[in-house]
Amino acid sequence: MATTLELSHWIGGKKQGGDRPAESLNPSDTRDVVARVPDGTADDVNAAVAAARAAFPAWSEASPEVRSDVLDKAGSLLMQRAQEVGTLLSREEGKTLPEGIGETMRAARILKYFAGEALRLHGQNLASTRPGVEVQTYRQAVGVYGLITPWNFPIAIPAWKAAPALAFGNTVVLKPAGHTPATAEALVAILHEAGLPEGVLNMVIGRGGVGQAIVDHPDVNAISFTGSQKVGAGVAAGAVARQARVQLEMGGKNPLIVLNDADIERAVTIALDGAFFSTGQRCTASSRLIVEDGIHDKFVAALAERVKALRLGDALDKDTQVGPAVSEDQRETSYRYIEIASKEGGKIVAGGDRPQLEKPGWYVQPTLITDTEAAMRINNEEVFGPVASVIRAKDYEEALHIANGVEFGLSAGIATSSLKYARDFQRRARAGMVMVNLPTAGVDYHVPFGGIKSSSYGPREQGFAAAEFFTQVKTAYSWS
Ligand code: UN1
Repeated sequence: MATTLELSHWIGGKKQGGDRPAESLNPSDTRDVVARVPDGTADDVNAAVAAARAAFPAWSEASPEVRSDVLDKAGSLLMQRAQEVGTLLSREEGKTLPEGIGETMRAARILKYFAGEALRLHGQNLASTRPGVEVQTYRQAVGVYGLITPWNFPIAIPAWKAAPALAFGNTVVLKPAGHTPATAEALVAILHEAGLPEGVLNMVIGRGGVGQAIVDHPDVNAISFTGSQKVGAGVAAGAVARQARVQLEMGGKNPLIVLNDADIERAVTIALDGAFFSTGQRCTASSRLIVEDGIHDKFVAALAERVKALRLGDALDKDTQVGPAVSEDQRETSYRYIEIASKEGGKIVAGGDRPQLEKPGWYVQPTLITDTEAAMRINNEEVFGPVASVIRAKDYEEALHIANGVEFGLSAGIATSSLKYARDFQRRARAGMVMVNLPTAGVDYHVPFGGIKSSSYGPREQGFAAAEFFTQVKTAYSWS
């Protein structure tokens, strides 16, 4: 069995916190302890915020080249170690090894992208309404950012929040998810190895109390959070109460519409990828498949065959296509919703049962449920597991109506060969991201990411849009 890591907080460039009462377990085989971890306190958060505050003046005033170089070097180091870090990620989170390595590469590319963005930060220069006066806008660093990240993308999400924060001259206190601290620590360690000055990026490992202490800390200027809607609402309330900036990415109940004219092979592959890969643990997962009458039976039969054939297993086994849920809780949530859906009248056509695997892990059989109605709980509440439901629709208009009829609005997809429906869907789908003949999950890192309705709050993340949240605009007037 692989070694057990001894994790620490990172405060002021140093590892801190010798007491390690908690464990991070391998969800594919719970006998394997990935790491022993500290349980952070409000004092640890205070120390981390103080270190971040102390580091802010020098970091924000440094040449953008300094910040760019650190991010670029960290990106290169992460690329070189993608196999090693990706293996740790898959061992700790449970996504398959190609997914773990892929996510690590994505984090590395995010670091490199923001190495470039550090140099491209710019404002505008305008003529004033008063002759002889000039107006300029600048984007400036804000201060200390609190980043609260989830376990499902344990390196990519810390990277896509930390990289723009750092690129634009802010300093950071990161609280990684309790299930995946070792993967987050790998990122923090690499950034320091790449030359990040002490105190610029701090990490406090722990439970909800650590997140709360960050949200409530008067010296944290902004909070970026990805996680559940329930926790997100509390984060927003805490931040707004003391006028901190806040950005939230929360759940999804993402629809994939399949029209009669879709290429059926492609539609099945898109649904399979969107709903089941990464064990369905993506806020962008295609969890509602809304299928037009004429293709419904053929599509469902073909998809059910593919779902049954998915190989569930240890994330690190090379034959595995779907790894376990991240935790016992997540596994039980999936089975609870499978039960709710069948009680509501849904028909399980693939999966549904508890798999018998040799290793003790938190496995969920990929499950497809048909004959569901739009109003059922399975079609309105996020499961966050390898579970998808099918709703039959009589035509495109009805499918669109169902697609838009939930409280979430992150990503929405359509499989069709009709330009007319594709374009109409892009315009009328109530979601922050729309996909034509592509899975609802799996996004690029250089373009805005985010949703509408209950899925997101605040400015968009990622790509060129990140400057919105991670800088502050100043307007300068001058006359000479
Ligand atoms: C993706 O689908 O590529 O937590 C990214 C999540 C999202 C990221 C999804 N914030 O699942």
